[in-house]
Amino acid sequence: MQAFAYRDGVLHAEGVALTGIAGRHGTPTYVYSRAAIEARWRAFDQGFACLPHLICYAVKANSNLAVLGVLARLGSGFDIVSVGELERVLRAGGDPGKVVFAGVGKREDEIARALEVGIRCFNVELVPELERIHDVARRMGARAPVALRVNPDVDARTHPYIATGMKQNKFGIPADEALSVYEYATRLPHLKVTGIGCHIGSQLTEVGPFDDAVAKVLDLVHLLRARGVEIEHIDIGGGLGIQYRDEEPPAVHAYAELISRRLAGQVKEVLMEPGRAIVGNAGILLTRVEYVKETPAKRFVIVDAAMNDLIRPALYEAWHEILRVRRDSDAPVAECDVVGPVCETGDFLARNRAIVAVQGDLLAVMSAGAYGFSMSSNYNARPRAAEVMVDGAQAYLVRARETVGQLLAGETTL
Ligand code: LLP
Repeated sequence: MQAFAYRDGVLHAEGVALTGIAGRHGTPTYVYSRAAIEARWRAFDQGFACLPHLICYAVKANSNLAVLGVLARLGSGFDIVSVGELERVLRAGGDPGKVVFAGVGKREDEIARALEVGIRCFNVELVPELERIHDVARRMGARAPVALRVNPDVDARTHPYIATGMKQNKFGIPADEALSVYEYATRLPHLKVTGIGCHIGSQLTEVGPFDDAVAKVLDLVHLLRARGVEIEHIDIGGGLGIQYRDEEPPAVHAYAELISRRLAGQVKEVLMEPGRAIVGNAGILLTRVEYVKETPAKRFVIVDAAMNDLIRPALYEAWHEILRVRRDSDAPVAECDVVGPVCETGDFLARNRAIVAVQGDLLAVMSAGAYGFSMSSNYNARPRAAEVMVDGAQAYLVRARETVGQLLAGETTL
């Protein structure tokens, strides 16, 4: 389905013109399509239909309550990395029994809260964490469900900042130590070892690395079984890429088919943690051209969104398509840099892009539903953008634009 398409020369989100959203809520504003989010979640659900499975949407990709609420209503689980994300899931109506908790630095209070609400499982990344979870569980008189996140040492062939499954990365327990860590874990009375998992990186555009990683994890499952340790679930992580430009990431069904074939009959349940693949192409960032600046060297289109709103171009040199919302005037296409008002040369949304853009135009930065708002900041004392979710012909403001007053609340002078 096409969540964002032109109708009568105006870019729409489902049935709503983006010009109307900008008029009502201002810019910069993130706009999400409920139908697109649901369609992608269902693609995973159907792809894995032949196996007992649980989709744990990676909250970090987009943690807006409306996004989480839409997914919770579909019956989704959630992959969280902080107590803040846990509280978001609970507030949105998510089932704590379908939450997995990943991350290399879990604090005691976070572990305690997760135990208190009864999450599905902790994905453990190192032995001291295992011991800390055991300790907290003992004090609470509980038994904590744990899975080990192993590091399979597989190259995800993605941007180095978001590759996580190689031995030089901080994530997971080295595969060759996993057996002894499992044996240790099974001796700790306040732990219940339920699973094994891996997550090798994000924005993967090939299935090969997933296949290699799952094969390595399965080898461990077999070795553990031979030693009498039964593993109930395998968590295959997230990481399936989306198309930003001309990438050709595997289709969800192809990815699901490959993994299902490998896992059929091997474990009781497969868990997965897709983030970007569900929300990435379900959102855009709507921004307005404040000025056009021509210099002898370059043409700069200065917009009201900046690196604080969408940091992916600055941080990963990510490419996002930029579309003009109203395709009416006959202004010429010109090569330009689309930049924000932040005082850094790294503050760009696009470089050397041939587009039409004149002062006052609305532009849509595409594929911004994942790691857009969730990575935004207040740099340069810029309030964070508004967020709108479109559902058919309706647009709902799901997060009001931050105010400068909110930015200053909590601070004092001496
Ligand atoms: N599970 C774990 C343990 C993760 O660390 C991540 C992402 C996911 C699942 C979800 O991965 P996804 O399906 O979204 O690829 N800020 C970067 C991406 C960072 C990904 C971090 N971990 C970006 O904008 O490209």
